[in-house]
Amino acid sequence: MGLSSRRDSEEYDSYLNVTRENLLRDIADPTRNKILLDTLAGFEVARVLDIGCGIGQALFPLAVSRGAFGVGVDVSDKACRLGDEFYAAHVPGARVAFARARAERLPFASASFDVVNFSLALPYTNNAQAISEVARVLRPGGLFLLGIHHTRYYLREFWQGLTSGDLLPMIHAGRVLAAGTIYHITGRQPLHRRLNETFQTKWLLSKELSKYGLTIEREQPYSTRRAPSFVIFKKS
Ligand SMILES: C[S@@+](CC[C@H](N)C(=O)[O-])C[C@H]1O[C@@H](n2cnc3c(N)ncnc32)[C@H](O)[C@@H]1O
Repeated sequence: MGLSSRRDSEEYDSYLNVTRENLLRDIADPTRNKILLDTLAGFEVARVLDIGCGIGQALFPLAVSRGAFGVGVDVSDKACRLGDEFYAAHVPGARVAFARARAERLPFASASFDVVNFSLALPYTNNAQAISEVARVLRPGGLFLLGIHHTRYYLREFWQGLTSGDLLPMIHAGRVLAAGTIYHITGRQPLHRRLNETFQTKWLLSKELSKYGLTIEREQPYSTRRAPSFVIFKKS
């Protein structure tokens, strides 16, 4: 394991710990997720899929609080195991399940879900395959909540690395900026092992989503310039 992957793994463990603490706070105070709850108001929700789910923190507001069935998928075994353990320990009545799966190949029948959440995980996937899978498993009229990392997110990472003299984040951000630029110019995402992470923009997303009958309706109020979040619908 190289230095950067060891660091990635430590950062991921610390991300999972922070997420766990945040989820405990969400459970104690559901108003913390008011915007997500409002997004679902009046929308029929029986089955929710969270892709790149971490420990399933989005499943609490989107599925559990609505009495719906929530499924979390993630490439990380550890995230899925911790998600299972977390809900068994803290929300034993919750109807949730976790499965290790890739966004690019979802193990579900077409039109299985009313809501799909995909928060800050699209950058790490083959975007075209992942978006086509979302469109497939979402029912007509279904709701797709998508959070992305914009160019500005990686420009900031690059700048912070440069000014602090920390080379690894700078190299990482430089690679992502290169891959994302190629993707935006050519319409093809570079999928080399070291170059597959990419940034997205609303312009590129609108183009990719429209191929599958998915339309951006609005941005969430908590959307930021570096990490925009979109409310998207699938054509009925
Ligand atoms: C930055 S975390 C975001 C987690 C969570 N959705 C959130 O908003 O906090 C990205 C997650 O995506 C997962 N991931 C990365 N590539 C993936 C893929 N191809 N398919 C499914 N999950 C993936 C990672 O394991 C990680 O848990």
